[in-house]
Amino acid sequence: MTHFAARVLWVREESPTVKTLAFRWDVDVLPGQFVMVWTPGIGEIPMSLSSLGETKTITVKDFGPPSAAIVSTKPGQNLYIRGPYGNHFTVVDGDKLVIGAGSGMASLAPLVDSRTYGIISAREKSEVILTGIFDQKRVLVTTDDGSMGLKGNTIEGLKVFDRDVEMIYVCGPEKMLYAVYNFLRDREVKAEFSLERSMKCGVGICDSCSIDGFQLCRDGPVFPIKTLEKMKEFGVSKLTYSGRRVQI
Ligand code: FES
Repeated sequence: MTHFAARVLWVREESPTVKTLAFRWDVDVLPGQFVMVWTPGIGEIPMSLSSLGETKTITVKDFGPPSAAIVSTKPGQNLYIRGPYGNHFTVVDGDKLVIGAGSGMASLAPLVDSRTYGIISAREKSEVILTGIFDQKRVLVTTDDGSMGLKGNTIEGLKVFDRDVEMIYVCGPEKMLYAVYNFLRDREVKAEFSLERSMKCGVGICDSCSIDGFQLCRDGPVFPIKTLEKMKEFGVSKLTYSGRRVQI
């Protein structure tokens, strides 16, 4: 599979562990789709794009060797990208709500416009990212330690959110996704969740990304709330990169 060598134009620090890298790539990408980013000699990981214009961006958290290598890429150096892969969020007119925790907020960023509300959650203030892309009257921050915004997790934010919206989009760690799913499941709302699993090929060959018969790279990574009801592994267990099943 051929990779596109994308020269990094600029790098912006979003938090002590998260950076945004910008590059030019003349390919249409839809919100929620992902690309595989390869670092020669280290590895390849899936990443959603955090902006989709002529200049595109990825927003990366340093959580292991491949992502650490990407985070340390400097302007003028190359990112090696293939894709885009997977399905995408359903874009709606009207008011909508994005719910992002940690670096999960990055894949939701292309959905933010003047009619978007946001709930952004993190463990503490230094990990809160991308609040600046919202109309500030429309964004609510929650932190576990109360160092910024409302003290508590995403659900505490949802409890005080009292607007009707056309669609809710959710991305973040699976524990948070599962909690939001349980909060919303009996309510009359439309919601889409972006899931994360280990991905090797990105194109439906290796099955490393499977969850209850669905392949995240082809059937996802975005799933409507009704489909999550069919997934017994959702919120419970997943395969590691080496194929070991672990509890979530
Ligand atoms: S990543 Fe290989 S089948 Fe999905």
